[in-house]
Amino acid sequence: MSINIVSCKHLNYLLSASFNPFCLCPAEFWGDIAKDFFWKTKHTGQFLDYNFDVTKGEIFIKFMEGASTNICYNVLDRNVHERKLGENVAFYWEGNEPGDELTVTYRELLQRVCQFANVLKSQGVKKGDRVSIYMPMVVELVVAMLACVRIGAVHSIVFAGFSAESLCERIMDSQCSLLITADGFYRGDKLINLKLLADEALQKCRDKGFSIQRCIMLKHLSKEADETPLGSRSPPAKRSCPDLQVPWNPEVDLCWHTLVRGASDECEPEWCDSEDPLFILYTSGSTGKPKGVLHTVSGYMLYTATTFKLVFDHQPDDVYWCTADIGWITGHSYITYGPLANGATSVLFEGLPTYPDVSRMWEIVDKYHVTSFYTAPTAIRLLMKYGREPVQKYKRESLKILGTVGEPINPEAWHWYYTVVGEKRCPIVDTFWQTETGGHVLTPLPAATPMKPGSATLPFFGVVPAILNESGEELEGPSEGYLVFKQPWPGVMRTVYGNQQRFETTYFKKFPGYYVTGDGCRRDEDGYYWITGRIDDMLNVSGHLLSTAEVESALMEHKSVSEAAVVGRPHPVKGESLYCFVTLTDGVTYNRTLEAELKKQVREKIGAIATPDYIQNAPGLPKTRSGKIMRRVLRKIACDERDLGDISTLADSSVVEQLFQNRCRMGV
Ligand code: WT7
Repeated sequence: MSINIVSCKHLNYLLSASFNPFCLCPAEFWGDIAKDFFWKTKHTGQFLDYNFDVTKGEIFIKFMEGASTNICYNVLDRNVHERKLGENVAFYWEGNEPGDELTVTYRELLQRVCQFANVLKSQGVKKGDRVSIYMPMVVELVVAMLACVRIGAVHSIVFAGFSAESLCERIMDSQCSLLITADGFYRGDKLINLKLLADEALQKCRDKGFSIQRCIMLKHLSKEADETPLGSRSPPAKRSCPDLQVPWNPEVDLCWHTLVRGASDECEPEWCDSEDPLFILYTSGSTGKPKGVLHTVSGYMLYTATTFKLVFDHQPDDVYWCTADIGWITGHSYITYGPLANGATSVLFEGLPTYPDVSRMWEIVDKYHVTSFYTAPTAIRLLMKYGREPVQKYKRESLKILGTVGEPINPEAWHWYYTVVGEKRCPIVDTFWQTETGGHVLTPLPAATPMKPGSATLPFFGVVPAILNESGEELEGPSEGYLVFKQPWPGVMRTVYGNQQRFETTYFKKFPGYYVTGDGCRRDEDGYYWITGRIDDMLNVSGHLLSTAEVESALMEHKSVSEAAVVGRPHPVKGESLYCFVTLTDGVTYNRTLEAELKKQVREKIGAIATPDYIQNAPGLPKTRSGKIMRRVLRKIACDERDLGDISTLADSSVVEQLFQNRCRMGV
């Protein structure tokens, strides 16, 4: 099925200058776009220089090297001073609790960022230093990240749903000198004592010989009367939170509000080279240890700004809402950098789609007259379960464009999104990209690209995909294989922080000359791309990538587990659920208590997102003669599919029958 709606205001632009970017070389295309931004000095070297071929030497991507700029200046000062957008709303903050809200203009945001940048400087943070941020979805999270980039410091944001162990690992890997956190927050009804977790992480770091000198804590729930919240509308009194625990270590801890009170709201930006590091964001790696994906200044800025503008067809009066958390790349690129670079007005939502009820999303859409709405298939599938009525309680008349990201969207969810939420008026942009790509790489342009439910359609300008077979040959026409990219685009990652070797091995070694996404892909007769899922050992749970190895190692750290193998089992809401097989150490018997302990263990090691859905006691695992676990077979067992395909390499086939008999019954 293909649906085409023609009403795109950018269509003329697309059809003129850049609709066929192949007429333009990347330097002309991006050079033209760069003219809208502020540069302290012009670039000196080549506009774009790169090597994607490991056989020819080190992998590198250099974009506009020698030019100097500052992203914070471009997304705030430029909008306030040059574009006269100072009084425009940057964010409508909507708290977890309905009625808890704030409005922040570009001018206010700039002032707060400058103040906090001065605070960071006074704490000794310098250009190039890494700062870890572990905060809920509050405006101060954006303030903290932009304050870092204003002074040339590199932020490393850790999603506030991650455990203390995960935070510690990330702080140590990037050797952060300072941590910014908050007292706590509510997710729905649940109170998260964030400071407690942050302290636990810092203690773990100390135990491992790494100590952070300073921790700045925002009072989000425990604010006092004189600690005025950011923004022009004050929130109503917070719900009381007697269970909030705020441990305080006077040698390390500093109060956000006290520091800011005395800080000047003027701060000259630090001019950075195009290829200076901008931020590090960790993503799961197939060997278990997360990878610190490094993005740099200019390429990322131009790429997120341009993809945001074109993919959401951004217009001056639009109100845009991306439901992701800033702790993930979607929030970095499409809550902070892309929208702010365009002077857009966004909703920043702290809560959940189901709290206090399952109409919350649509209530917010009507409240702020949201025109573009960007979410994940997992959220759509979750809301689908409750039917049309909660959606239809609200008008949703303002909606113009709907977006999806994070995993392949199944056609059923697509149709529900299109017909029930968008009432067949709104094009759906199914955007395929990765933490590593910085921004959208396969995506429709709304109303210009005919849609096919479940396909991320075609490459963005300057992105050149290819499909390779196992031997690395490029396949032509309709085909299926490995999705790779043949040349860089400005927003592509530059390295794995502190580990160039791992960067090259992970993305460039398998097929020299190509960036390997790790996704399988099919191309149809119209040249449309259909992502078929990860081909490495990664799982996609509710739009979050998890490595099976990471979960396995968390399980195996339990003294009763000798071996573990984790596979994905399709799940109607989450996309994939975690089905874990565990072999116990001799003499241990499997019971509910142990099962609960194992689930807790994984939750504490990695985070709630990785909590196993099913754990099966597996006295033996299917292995090849060389001892490699056959996950392909385990996946079939998890799904109760008896057609196992070729199992000739299996060392002992009796274990398979045994596992089938003892499968976890669904709903357990
Ligand atoms: C992986 C990247 C990009 C932000 C969210 C996830 C899957 C992402 C789509 C889509 C099919 C998708 C891929 C990709 N993915 N978007 N529209 N259609 N699959 O970022 O955690 O780096 O995960 O998410 O498997 O490789 P990430």
